[in-house]
Amino acid sequence: MAHVTRYAFLVSPSHNRVYAQAAPRLALAELSVLAERAFDGRVTDLGTTTLGGLPYVTFTLDDPAGPDADRVRETDLGLVSALSSAYALFAVDGEPGAGGGVALRPVTRAAVELFDSDLLTVQRYAGKTNEDFTRLLVNVTVAATDRPRDLAGPWTVRPDGARRRLRVLDPMAGRGTTLNQALVRGWDAAGIDVDAKDVEAYAVFLRTWLKNHRLKHTADLGTLRRDGKNLGRRFTATVGATPQEYRAGDTIGVELVNADTVRAAELFPAGHFDAIVTDAPYGVQHGNRASGTRGRDGRSTARDDLTRSPVPLLTKALPGWVRLLRRGGAVGISWNVKVAPRRDLVDALTTAGLEVLGERSDDAAPGPWQGFEHRVDQAIQRDLVVARKPR
Ligand SMILES: C[S@@+](CC[C@H](N)C(=O)[O-])C[C@H]1O[C@@H](n2cnc3c(N)ncnc32)[C@H](O)[C@@H]1O
Repeated sequence: MAHVTRYAFLVSPSHNRVYAQAAPRLALAELSVLAERAFDGRVTDLGTTTLGGLPYVTFTLDDPAGPDADRVRETDLGLVSALSSAYALFAVDGEPGAGGGVALRPVTRAAVELFDSDLLTVQRYAGKTNEDFTRLLVNVTVAATDRPRDLAGPWTVRPDGARRRLRVLDPMAGRGTTLNQALVRGWDAAGIDVDAKDVEAYAVFLRTWLKNHRLKHTADLGTLRRDGKNLGRRFTATVGATPQEYRAGDTIGVELVNADTVRAAELFPAGHFDAIVTDAPYGVQHGNRASGTRGRDGRSTARDDLTRSPVPLLTKALPGWVRLLRRGGAVGISWNVKVAPRRDLVDALTTAGLEVLGERSDDAAPGPWQGFEHRVDQAIQRDLVVARKPR
């Protein structure tokens, strides 16, 4: 019989009280998506429990068998360590909640972050997407691709057998929360935002952060030109995780372009990205800038000038985004359900030629993909939807 281990992870304490309330349920949905996509049925018995007054997610993992078992086991640990809220991981002896006592044996998480976590936390500004949620969105989107186990490390293996870094695009990137989540994992990160101030602020932030951490890098805020045309300001950086890797030219690329996302296909090569991940304008603080006006901090303020639903903008932008996605790649979008129902997002993604995960008409009960809706504040109830480009 296959060896089976029961695990529990302590859900990360979130600085955000509202997010902390939803965190165990979101962590369970995230693990359920990974179980469905990346573990070949070897993760079962998922649940949440409270131990010593703290929230844990529990699950059972079948140990892999066969000649590849060590490699599979290593990737398994990488996948669990990549979860957005797996703060501390334990193997469980005894049954949580069974009354007979339970012992937790610490399991060292795999080092899936290449850089200090302050990359994700030091930037603070109005309209920033919660970094734990961003990581969750990135994770479930990569898990939806045809290579879900890529999530465990920086690399993906190309059809010709060579490896390259995963490539993630946030086509409405703001000040780079998604870019930072990709960079910390060693993935190439690219972004687009229509607000020049966001691009400038991110350039200042990343330069300072790279210098403070004494990481070998290049950084440049210049202009993207194509065919003699000026397409917008562009910040680019290349970063070495170690001085040796930098010297060997093995660097991670980061890029943020100031442009309207409906022009995305003009900015990057077709089929370039493995995943496209974005937190769409909420129709509250951020607007769809094609029609928005600016407040003092450069963010849209006058509600009357906003198209509150992001769907018209998404409908316009999606054909370009889909072009930039490789076959088998995936798009993940979060949005405010108070300004647009899920159905509208699903329709927009389907019309763009994508297959929405968890939306098959023969699905009897709502699956994990329907388990991510949560409150952000009075005006924002956030959900996410993920779709794959057919192979
Ligand atoms: C919810 S915010 C994303 C915040 C980002 N995740 C962060 O943490 O900084 C939505 C972003 O969409 C951008 N946006 C709105 N309309 C756009 C358009 N047409 N093209 C590109 N970006 C757009 C806004 O400027 C805003 O930064």
